Amino acid sequence: MMPEPQESKPVPTDHHGHVHLCNGGVSVVFALESNRLPAVVYWGGELPAATAGEVVATAAPAVLNSSFDQPRSVSIAPTTFQGWSGTPALVCHRGGVPASRVVLVAVESDRTSAVFTLRDHALGLGIRLEYRIDPAGVLTALARITNLAPAGEPVDVGAVRILLPVPARAAELLDFTGRWSGERRPQRSPLTDGTRLRASRRGRPGHDAAFVTVIGTRHFGFRDGEIWAVHVAWSGNSEQLVERLPEGAGSLTALIGGAELLEPGELRLAPGEEYTGPPVLFAWSDGGLDGISRRFHQHARARPNHPSSPRPLVLNTWEAVYFDHDFGRLTDLAKRAAAIGVERFVLDDGWFRGRRSDAAGLGDWTVDTEVWPRGLAELADLVHGLGMQFGLWVEPEMVNLDSDLARDHPEWILGLDDAMPLSWRHQFVLDIAQPDAWSYLYRSIDEIVSRYQVDFLKWDHNRDVHGAVDRASGALRGRAQTLAASELMDALTRTHPGLEIEACASGGGRADLGILAHAHRVWTSDTNDPIERQWIQRWTGLLLPPEVVGAHVGPAQAHTTHRESSLSLRLATALFAHAGIEWDLTACSDGERATLTAWAALYRQLRPLLHGGVTVHADDLDDGAVLEGVVSEDGRHALFAWMRIGTSATAHTPRVRFPGLRCDVDYALRTRTEIGPASRHQVADPAWFPAPGMSAAVSGGLLTGAGVPLPQLNPGQVLLLELLAGAEPPA
Ligand code: DGJ
Repeated sequence: MMPEPQESKPVPTDHHGHVHLCNGGVSVVFALESNRLPAVVYWGGELPAATAGEVVATAAPAVLNSSFDQPRSVSIAPTTFQGWSGTPALVCHRGGVPASRVVLVAVESDRTSAVFTLRDHALGLGIRLEYRIDPAGVLTALARITNLAPAGEPVDVGAVRILLPVPARAAELLDFTGRWSGERRPQRSPLTDGTRLRASRRGRPGHDAAFVTVIGTRHFGFRDGEIWAVHVAWSGNSEQLVERLPEGAGSLTALIGGAELLEPGELRLAPGEEYTGPPVLFAWSDGGLDGISRRFHQHARARPNHPSSPRPLVLNTWEAVYFDHDFGRLTDLAKRAAAIGVERFVLDDGWFRGRRSDAAGLGDWTVDTEVWPRGLAELADLVHGLGMQFGLWVEPEMVNLDSDLARDHPEWILGLDDAMPLSWRHQFVLDIAQPDAWSYLYRSIDEIVSRYQVDFLKWDHNRDVHGAVDRASGALRGRAQTLAASELMDALTRTHPGLEIEACASGGGRADLGILAHAHRVWTSDTNDPIERQWIQRWTGLLLPPEVVGAHVGPAQAHTTHRESSLSLRLATALFAHAGIEWDLTACSDGERATLTAWAALYRQLRPLLHGGVTVHADDLDDGAVLEGVVSEDGRHALFAWMRIGTSATAHTPRVRFPGLRCDVDYALRTRTEIGPASRHQVADPAWFPAPGMSAAVSGGLLTGAGVPLPQLNPGQVLLLELLAGAEPPA
């Protein structure tokens, strides 16, 4: 064991010293006590300074029977050495000796951020825990671990978790699971003693990602309840957990948090080396799930690489032509797309060497001259000439064994010769942390982007990363792979400013704020069935704002489910996200094309509202009914979708309250009919409801208070309701 070189003494703190972070209506209070590590004693709504002091002064709970002789507290880095019997925050050792004597050596803080520097002097280990609350009220926390010894054995890091305590009224849990074409399915349960650990070892979050782990007061809904939520912004192996022990967590009850998931041996810090964990995001709200998504959206929108230009209407060729690339057919598609008002044309899988099916070609990133004898320039020029951006599909991290790349560089494929991972969609994972493999990919994609002035890359990742070991050493490569992929995206966008990237993983298997630090959109799911999409987009929207959530209008019969649905429902579903089309427009009727054109104009008109407003959902509807929408920040403009997804048990729809509107404003409500009509399961609309082309004056007080009866729609039908503030009532 190496002693740490520099001298630093524990920070002296008075008994009731504390750090109070406050922003966006949220407070986080850390108690600083002598001889103990700091402990979070409060995370919730904004506290007056005096109350924060009182919370600290009363933080010590009773000394229990059959327990320690001191009151329990749970520090910001709880381990067994401080009496924490739950999942440790810090798992690391040097030659088998764990970090055990961790002390606080420095605190730097201001109103919105705090950095706690901890040391294990004997082990030569430095730990920095950094917390910052932004104006959205989202607390971002991250950990840095440094091997401070100048020489000697490395430090093995097994886990560095960021954990925050929550009070006893956090009694119900919500997180997500899913499958291909069925991402982000909610799972809800009471919070009980034990550990709810959701781990992804897929090398990507996966279709079943926990996504956001939420705990809240009993029966929390979209509009009601107090909620604490966590998201790990890391697009690789990660974990999110909630843990409750019978002895509680200091004066609070349970812990919630997360970390990067590190496999044994994956992270060894050489002398002087530092590890930085991923940002772990914590959001609190007393306004239900909509309150949480409002904070997450505001946080996401403030990130430097968040798209700021209007989100172009997309046409993606995948479901229109699949691998059947034909210049004439694609030219026709591009012309029809432009005529409808499409602004970005994306040529999906199938354009590169040998790629006539998913069994071959991955890795050979040059244009297939058999299918494209004159290259892609003609199509790219045509698309640009029609005033659209040109996008291209790639899957850089993967390789088919039937490719020149695999034949020339078998040493670049992850997995040992005698223990190759199982194949998945006929593909394997490239070891892109190898500099030569990384450079090959960078050069190939850079060349394609430059030559064809590619504006947009749809970046796919169609398999889990299993058994991914480095060919030479046999060491696991999960973390290295995630870092190398992020750097590849960054290098390309640095070289090509303005280039945008869509993160896709067989649909929505890589939808998180880790990948969105490098990409600009997620492909939310491979299903374009609007009924499936309603649920997938609803829950994706808990974290991600609509402008980064890709949603496409497909044909009447969905390719993934074979369910038939109305054009209006398909159009309305795509409208509330980053909209696009994934449909063979050459097979559409004139009427369908006319409706698509009207919808495209509507999308362009409303996207400032849709991509800048506040997402809201109504509670208390029957299971088959949905009322959700977007309200402008000032509350004066809103668009709602009133939908019936399934039949109703009741004969009538009772009064419905509109979420998110202002009660002090009078609105003009009208139906936007550009998406086509909605059939009714009734004789006549409620008397107050405006006829098509007309508007009705309704007060915000009525809409948000007593509510209004709405038309009884048939299943699969939707009405788009636009509300515009009129004159405000006199003061
Ligand atoms: C999976 C994606 O999710 C699809 O949208 C499509 O791009 C295919 N891969 C292409 O292989």
